[in-house]
Amino acid sequence: AERELLERFEATVGRSDRIEPRDWMPEGYRKTLVRQVAQHAHSEIIGMQPEGNWIGRAPSLRRKAILLAKVQDEAGHGLYLYSATETLGVSRQELTEMLLAGRQKYSSIFNYPTLSYADVGTIGWLVDGAAICNQVPLCRTSYGPYGRAMIRICKEESFHQRQGYELLMTMMRGTDEQRAMVQESVNRFWWPALMMFGPPDADSPNTARSMAWGIKRNTNDDLRQRFVDMTVPQAEALGVTLPDPDLRWNEARGHHDFGQPDWEEFTQVVKGNGPCNAERLAHRRRAHEDGAWVREAALAFAERSAVQQEK
Ligand code: 3HC
Repeated sequence: AERELLERFEATVGRSDRIEPRDWMPEGYRKTLVRQVAQHAHSEIIGMQPEGNWIGRAPSLRRKAILLAKVQDEAGHGLYLYSATETLGVSRQELTEMLLAGRQKYSSIFNYPTLSYADVGTIGWLVDGAAICNQVPLCRTSYGPYGRAMIRICKEESFHQRQGYELLMTMMRGTDEQRAMVQESVNRFWWPALMMFGPPDADSPNTARSMAWGIKRNTNDDLRQRFVDMTVPQAEALGVTLPDPDLRWNEARGHHDFGQPDWEEFTQVVKGNGPCNAERLAHRRRAHEDGAWVREAALAFAERSAVQQEK
């Protein structure tokens, strides 16, 4: 019977149809999804911190309203993704505990500091730009709840990317000091943005399996190349330089050649030794502990409402 179920599962994936929560799935498929979707959810929630750092110091009411809306969107994305993970049989509580215990990861990019206000623009342009490149193909992922969450998330991400680009455009039309601020920020974020796509394909233990299952639709290197090709003309329009001496158009390939990020730095950041890892997790832990009374009150309220309904 197991064989028949497996054949049916493989046929569904083979037709690019969706697997739904009640369908039979191999245990490895379920585990891989929990790992990737939870990691994605944690990234959205931890990702609120670097930009949240500038909400109190945004230079105008308009900029503050935009930034607040954006950071709130990230919270919403985290919640859709935790809900998608819950359909695989793990609770949000368990996932949060695994994050806090260092047993689940979140994106390397959020372990870098936001040192100037230009970083708000650069994160929108480069970090959300990289996220869109990675996530648009995930709208076609084989697991239904994940794919449907990605559709809405991608729409909001493209608004985030535009707001970042527009902010940088405005600064580039400003003073020399503002232009220098933008360039300095781009210099710091370029390489970490390329690392968001994960290790080179040759060092990516999960890609082949995840692609065979239709969880991932492209390899890490393919998406990184797509991102570079998409970003170069945007950098030109903006008037900033991307800090890579090896970056040039390759006519024969029809793509840009570019240098490799420092993969040793990536390994260290993923292991917990990046510039802000300790701070990000400590903040997340504190927020979780501070919220304990809200969870308790919500539970007590739900229990009381259930009893009243029975009466
Ligand atoms: N940061 C941290 N860890 C990373 C990483 C990164 N940038 N890239 C890879 N890793 C980890 C992997 O999780 C894996 O470790 P694990 O087996 O313990 O989980 C290991 O490095 C080897 O990498 P693989 O290439 O084999 O792993 P995957 O096949 O899972 O590919 C991925 C990695 C491309 C990031 C893939 O998981 C993915 O597409 N995830 C969904 C997108 C996502 O998580 N985005 C989060 C960042 S952006 C965001 O969401 C916020 C936005 O609002 C800005």
